[in-house]
Amino acid sequence: MNPPAVDVSALTDVATLSTPRLRLEPLGVAHLDGVWEGLLDDESMRLTGTRQVFTREAVVRHLDSLADRDDRADWAIIELGSEEYVGEIVLNELEPDDASMNFRIALNPGRLGRGFGTEATRAVLDHAFDRIGLHRVSLDVFSFNPRAQRSYEKAGFRYEGRQRDTLFWDGEWVDSILMSVLSTDERPAAPEAVDIADRPERTAVPRPLSDFPLHASVAVSDIDRAVTFYEGTLRLPLARSGPSARISGGSRVYRSGGDEALHVYQSTTAGTSHATVATWYVDDLDQVVDALAANGVDFLRYDGLSHDARGITARAGGGRIVWFADPDGNTFALESDR
Ligand SMILES: CC(C)(COP(=O)(O)OP(=O)(O)OC[C@H]1O[C@@H](n2cnc3c(N)ncnc32)[C@H](O)[C@@H]1OP(=O)(O)O)[C@@H](O)C(=O)NCCC(=O)NCCS
Repeated sequence: MNPPAVDVSALTDVATLSTPRLRLEPLGVAHLDGVWEGLLDDESMRLTGTRQVFTREAVVRHLDSLADRDDRADWAIIELGSEEYVGEIVLNELEPDDASMNFRIALNPGRLGRGFGTEATRAVLDHAFDRIGLHRVSLDVFSFNPRAQRSYEKAGFRYEGRQRDTLFWDGEWVDSILMSVLSTDERPAAPEAVDIADRPERTAVPRPLSDFPLHASVAVSDIDRAVTFYEGTLRLPLARSGPSARISGGSRVYRSGGDEALHVYQSTTAGTSHATVATWYVDDLDQVVDALAANGVDFLRYDGLSHDARGITARAGGGRIVWFADPDGNTFALESDR
């Protein structure tokens, strides 16, 4: 395999990038007012975990120092038409031998939630891979920032893992979520690039659901007992908690496979189904079964099936399968093709 070739001239001479609604231009002192407005916003400081108090002079020095850097590229995001400053977006921490860089972005208050962040991120990723020649772009984002995580996922970043207690903010420990995208990953097409009218299968056969993620929902009789099982025993990462129909704090959403996947909610209907409610398709079934068994998961055995010592059995049509249940009897399967 050829070693990666990073074109450093794409960093020393940062190109202006265009998207349907934005212009990304090299960040500099001309953008001081916009950058300063962002630094005055408490919520932006929280979301980026920034404790430092900046002076205007220090910010000018920083912006001035960005020209001709060969290890990073900083852009100001400008809205076309209004020509207003929207935020900044950065590739930094170049590792030339590994063709990797870190990514970060911060939009100014009042600019969030309109798709600008995802639109700018897509443009920078295209540039990172197609022009700079990077192989990997990575980031970390705090667990209390689901909007940023969602935006990154839409732009093509994938969930890699979680670092525990990386930030102490407002009296609480906060985890960091690690995400990355590789040059070889398939990047999702920008929605504006998809011409739905040109997709014949849509015209011929309407598929109202197939573009949307499907999550499993399971009813439990006692949310606290369920949390002990799903978080303590299964070690599923919590995406968020919310109310169930009648109880505040009665539901949890867990992540799996890089996305929100399982909704657990307290309900009087709990325990009424013992059919399999959801299945994990895993690569190494033995390893996953061993890890869960070590956490105290008991695997189910069914009459008429021949299970091995750990409960694994042959799957109809090939491969192997094993089942376990939560404290309410909601049954999950683990399957593998091998
Ligand atoms: C992170 C950031 C760049 C994202 O850009 P953005 O333009 O606000 O994001 P978008 O509008 O493109 O996408 C946001 C997505 O998050 C979703 N979202 C918003 N709030 C959410 C929440 N509380 N939980 C889950 N998803 C949420 C939106 O619905 C949208 O997804 P959808 O298009 O599938 O509906 C921007 O919000 C930002 O700069 N925030 C402040 C600073 C910051 O957090 N920086 C990142 C530090 S790592």
